[in-house]
Amino acid sequence: MRVLGIETSCDETGIALYDDSLGLMADLLYSQIDVHKAYGGVVPELASRDHIRKCLPMIDQILTETETKPDQIDAIAFTEGPGLIGALLVGASIAKSLALAWNIPAIGIHHMEGHLQATQLTETPTQYPFVALLVSGGHTQLMACSQPGEYEILGESMDDAAGEAFDKVAKMLGLGYPGGPQVASLATQGAKDRFHFPRPMTQKPGLNFSFSGLKTHTMNTLRALKDPSDQDRADIARAFEEAVVETIKIKCTRALAQTGYPTLVLAGGVSANTRLRASLQTLSQTLKIEVSYPDLKFCTDNGAMIAIAGLLRRSQWQRDNHEIIARPRWPMTELQGLAT
Ligand code: KG4
Ligand code: ZN
Repeated sequence: MRVLGIETSCDETGIALYDDSLGLMADLLYSQIDVHKAYGGVVPELASRDHIRKCLPMIDQILTETETKPDQIDAIAFTEGPGLIGALLVGASIAKSLALAWNIPAIGIHHMEGHLQATQLTETPTQYPFVALLVSGGHTQLMACSQPGEYEILGESMDDAAGEAFDKVAKMLGLGYPGGPQVASLATQGAKDRFHFPRPMTQKPGLNFSFSGLKTHTMNTLRALKDPSDQDRADIARAFEEAVVETIKIKCTRALAQTGYPTLVLAGGVSANTRLRASLQTLSQTLKIEVSYPDLKFCTDNGAMIAIAGLLRRSQWQRDNHEIIARPRWPMTELQGLAT
């Protein structure tokens, strides 16, 4: 069973071919960073146009490199949502058109389910049930996953997503876009105990997050320094990163205790953060639970995670539905369960 995956939800065009017996056959990623960096963030219209330019040539390249003929592909999986509407529509239109031309089914995938499946690309399959920590540019959620395709929200951010907070703090610190990796890199130069930032919403019980107060605290600390040096900025980056990581760790501990589940699965761009990975690794030893991370290259958006999620949802493949749907907002809890 071979699935072509197409990811176009935001600022990365990801195309991949996954085969259930051969594994990941090819995986191409084109990042639009150069298109958007002059604007300090993603410009939706430019993103859509760039996906249009890149998608078909990348699909062609993958077919050529893997010597695959269309009749060897069993289905096309594409990101149906959530994401930028124009960007999603590009992927959806191309996927549905090719599926019609090649007479194969297409399946619309939830982007965050794709992120969650990314761990399966490199590790042995994660056993259910598990707690999922989804941390990306648009999401910060803790989910209870009792069986394939079943998601119950345990907690989520009331305001900014973790990645969004990283990106905004990067701007404050005069760093470029995308900000998360740059804040993380600057934080490695920061002093450990110079600043102690608040761990939001950890004093009271509950699994929700809020990062906007932490952002304001970061801004106030920076302003109080008047003419901050490079070292000041690095110290602030470190304090901010430590606050985010510890907050997430506290909430994960609670979610694991509340569910009694033995495994934590990380997903989304922020799961590439070294301090977060190390902190949850320590937690796994303390609590004697399993922690499963995607390979670094599959933490941020990619086509491979969409292709493998397409395989997970093979029972929903549709050959004769030609409607092109994009869902900019799409709660994961609306997904159909897949338990047999
Ligand atoms: O999953 P993703 O590629 O796209 C979305 O679905 O949003 O996540 C992108 C987010 C960005 O906010 C980026 O700054 C953040 O993930 N990110 C990181 C790191 N790498 C990416 N945040 C902190 N540390 C990192 N190493
Ligand atoms: Zn993503």
